[in-house]
Amino acid sequence: MLPDKVRLFEVGARDGLQNEKQEVPANIKVELIERLVDAGVSAIETGSFVSPKWVPQMKDTADVMERLTRKEGVVYSVLTPNMKGFEGAVASKATEIEVFSGASEMFSQKNINCSIDESLERFLPVMQAAKDKNIPVRASVSCALGSPFDEEIKPEKVAEVSKKLYDMGAYEVSIADTIGVGTPLQTKRVLYAVANVIPLGAIGVHFHDTYGQALANILAALEMGVARLDSSVAGLGGCPYAPGATGNVATEDVVYMLDGMGIDSGIDLKKLVKTAWFISDFLERKPVSSVANALKSKLD
Ligand code: HMG
Ligand code: MG
Repeated sequence: MLPDKVRLFEVGARDGLQNEKQEVPANIKVELIERLVDAGVSAIETGSFVSPKWVPQMKDTADVMERLTRKEGVVYSVLTPNMKGFEGAVASKATEIEVFSGASEMFSQKNINCSIDESLERFLPVMQAAKDKNIPVRASVSCALGSPFDEEIKPEKVAEVSKKLYDMGAYEVSIADTIGVGTPLQTKRVLYAVANVIPLGAIGVHFHDTYGQALANILAALEMGVARLDSSVAGLGGCPYAPGATGNVATEDVVYMLDGMGIDSGIDLKKLVKTAWFISDFLERKPVSSVANALKSKLD
């Protein structure tokens, strides 16, 4: 039951850069986003409207959004934890917003300073305001396959939070392995629990690759018919509030796998790999992506 086509949601400019120690100026972020769109990315996280004290790396999101030359039909999405964030998103003409909750109580407290239930309550006015303005909302459920705080995460808890977010109006719920610990059969168990309560077509997956399991987990999700995948150019990523969370699965690795399986992602691998090297050169390190490294000598 493999899909013929997937939607890749590129998270490098947000999930990736939010975790960088060095400052990445707005013009580099803009060039990164524009290059990704030129490579065929059709949905992209451009930043977050969150507290600059919590995540200083995203404090220039309004500036980035202002400077971007946008391409018609592309989704430019931003994270919004509350109404203040939503107002920033509207002012910057984001085409979509993202709310983020989790299946771990401790992570919720550390990441957004409230319980899971309180986070859902905070999203209610955001979801309503988005509905009033016809702005699509994507939601994310963190720590769905494991918590950095030594708690057991039950698939039923992931399903419960996913259903609440879907019922509140999210068109997609992205099931996130924030600390990259999940394995393929576990992935299937969690996705089955979620698919029991929301439509399969509304499920997305977001894997970090800390333990090298992300591509295997993506294959497990594809085999169930999941066709919404998050990935991050050059494998950038992590979450400042999840100890041990390293990079997301690299978009280049995902696209190479999809190309080999005859699944359409709409992305030009060569342009993507050049973009991975563009941002990695700026950050003065090699991409963690095997594909970006393997293809480097074949770029010109
Ligand atoms: P708080 O301290 O409880 O909030 O933080 P508050 O309402 O008391 O406000 C405190 C200060 O923040 C005030 O400023 C507010 O104005 C300001 P002050 O008066 O002290 O100068 N503030 C804001 N500023 C800008 N934009 C806003 C905003 N809201 C309040 N929207 C809050 C609560 C949610 C704001 C905070 O905890 C926060 O910003 N957290 C951000 C966490 C974050 O961005 N984490 C990373 C993204 S999630 C992730 O990476 C996971 C994901 O990739 C999936 C996965 O892998 O799991 C999506
Ligand atoms: Mg993440």
